[in-house]
Amino acid sequence: MSTEFWYVWDGAKDRFVQAKRPPRDPGLVEAMRRLEIRLARVGDREKLLEFRRVALESEPDIWLPDELDLDEIRRNIDGWEPSRYPNDYIIVAELDGRIIGYLHLSICYRLFDGGPSAWVKDVFVLKKYRGYRVGTRLMDFAKEIARRRGCKTLRLIVGLENLAGLSFYKHCGFNIVKVGLATLKLR
Ligand SMILES: CC(C)(COP(=O)(O)OP(=O)(O)OC[C@H]1O[C@@H](n2cnc3c(N)ncnc32)[C@H](O)[C@@H]1OP(=O)(O)O)[C@@H](O)C(=O)NCCC(=O)NCCS
Repeated sequence: MSTEFWYVWDGAKDRFVQAKRPPRDPGLVEAMRRLEIRLARVGDREKLLEFRRVALESEPDIWLPDELDLDEIRRNIDGWEPSRYPNDYIIVAELDGRIIGYLHLSICYRLFDGGPSAWVKDVFVLKKYRGYRVGTRLMDFAKEIARRRGCKTLRLIVGLENLAGLSFYKHCGFNIVKVGLATLKLR
């Protein structure tokens, strides 16, 4: 059953607030039948950049300062070569030729874990397409890859103020414990 508690970001209050759940657009519900979840390819670079551009434009105030420079992002995407990163999986949700969501899954070695660890580094669905199970389908795809790679756990970091994210991860089966995020800028 769908949740009644819908959280939206309120820029003026600088926090998530509970709101009435937006009604689903029947046209989009129908369109979701054509949604394809797949691994990104080198040929997707332009589509990935366009996805990022729309994401920045539609929600300019949710990003960290070092996530805003589209020229840097373009250079980073241009330098992305999947074969150089065999433990990273860029999973995309494509609708009618446009990328509308993505999830970055990373498999890494951790000395004292019971096997390889899987991490969700990022998951993002364009605002217009939220609430149509795109995120859930990306996560299911990621879980399957992690299982195939022999991982026993899937982990991620989410801000405790991100009520929509917390609700989504709970829906996906995650158990959430409090931790802090530490970042050191290297330049
Ligand atoms: C979090 C996010 C990826 C969810 O994607 P989505 O495609 O809208 O999620 P789904 O439609 O698959 O939602 C699955 C369930 O999660 C919960 N959920 C999702 N968004 C929610 C919201 N805004 N408020 C409350 N619950 C929510 C619901 O239980 C929902 O199930 P339901 O539709 O049956 O009620 C999307 O909101 C997003 O991209 N947010 C911005 C980036 C972000 O915060 N990423 C995660 C933190 S790092």
